[in-house]
Amino acid sequence: MKNNKLWIALSLGACSLGLVQKSELTLKDAFQKDFYVGAALNQAQVSGKDAQVQALIKKQFNTISPENSLKWGPIHPKPEEYTFKPADDYVAFGQQNKMFTIGHTLVWHQQTPDWVFEDEVGKPVSREVLLQRMEKHIATVVGRYKGKINGWDVVNEAIADQGGQMRPTKWLSIIGEDFAVKAFEYAHKADPKAELYYNDYSLYQPAKREGVIRLVKGLQAKGIKVNAIGMQGHYGLTVPTIEQVEASIVAFSKLGVKVNFTELDIDVLPNPSRRQGADIAETFETDQKYNVYTTGLPDSVQQKLTKRYADLFTLFRKHRDKIGRITFWGVTDANSWLNNWPIKGRTSYPLLFDRQYQPKPALQAVLQTAALKN
Ligand code: GLA
Repeated sequence: MKNNKLWIALSLGACSLGLVQKSELTLKDAFQKDFYVGAALNQAQVSGKDAQVQALIKKQFNTISPENSLKWGPIHPKPEEYTFKPADDYVAFGQQNKMFTIGHTLVWHQQTPDWVFEDEVGKPVSREVLLQRMEKHIATVVGRYKGKINGWDVVNEAIADQGGQMRPTKWLSIIGEDFAVKAFEYAHKADPKAELYYNDYSLYQPAKREGVIRLVKGLQAKGIKVNAIGMQGHYGLTVPTIEQVEASIVAFSKLGVKVNFTELDIDVLPNPSRRQGADIAETFETDQKYNVYTTGLPDSVQQKLTKRYADLFTLFRKHRDKIGRITFWGVTDANSWLNNWPIKGRTSYPLLFDRQYQPKPALQAVLQTAALKN
């Protein structure tokens, strides 16, 4: 009898524990009806070397982006040499976990080797040669993951930071303004079913917003399919304002495309340049006055971060009919690129999970926005 009672008590305990675990809300479940929620993954996370973080990823996210493995430099370092293994592992991880798997990125002015633009003696190649190289690269990479990668950032950061004109890059100077048209055409040919995106930072700025609208309208006028505009979302605690972000969501969706937030993080550290963008070439010398929270984030800043994330997700939910996904640029604070940009070796706090993989107060605040009736 005693034993029976103990057994019943234990079973009830296990049962309620099960219920607690089941009802623990996760990002992917909380926003299931609204949009995908995801993160950019590095190789250690994909390979399973870091089992704890993999469990977190599977639990919280239903879309993934590759932090580096599908960029031109890492995957196609030399003319006849491709390094597919890291990208293969990334795509396999997405497939095994039934995640909406993103390809990032096909045509960009960064992390692209010089040989792409040069002949054997280092002179710029002709438009025809560069177009051939672009087509071959896209056919090979997109073709390899056809039907497995669901959407591609075809062109990244083609609009200049000031003025909204095309950014002066080798793609532009050698091929001309239609390099983006060609990139989208080649990507569509390589996988007609994949979604295709234009991706950029600081798209809350009116001039950049208008530049992207012009670019996308130009593509659409040629009959090219653009499924979404990716707003990277490398934000600060106060810049941009919620109204600025909202204005771009509304303006972009009028083009008949979805809006994705593709690289969301919030930098809480003091800023040496009052920078507003995410130009990876813009870096600064180490200086401890810009690395002020090495022993932990003060409560007051934690609260600002929490409120900032809550405000952003309240906005995202308000426009959930226009938004396809929200992807964080990293999983935990430990592996954010913001520990090394724009200054190397800082202790940064931009994400929803801390260095011990524990949820920060911002996670709860974000989850609560899912229940708002707006
Ligand atoms: C840009 C790129 C990303 C990444 C970040 C910083 O936003 O699109 O791939 O390189 O910079 O890491």
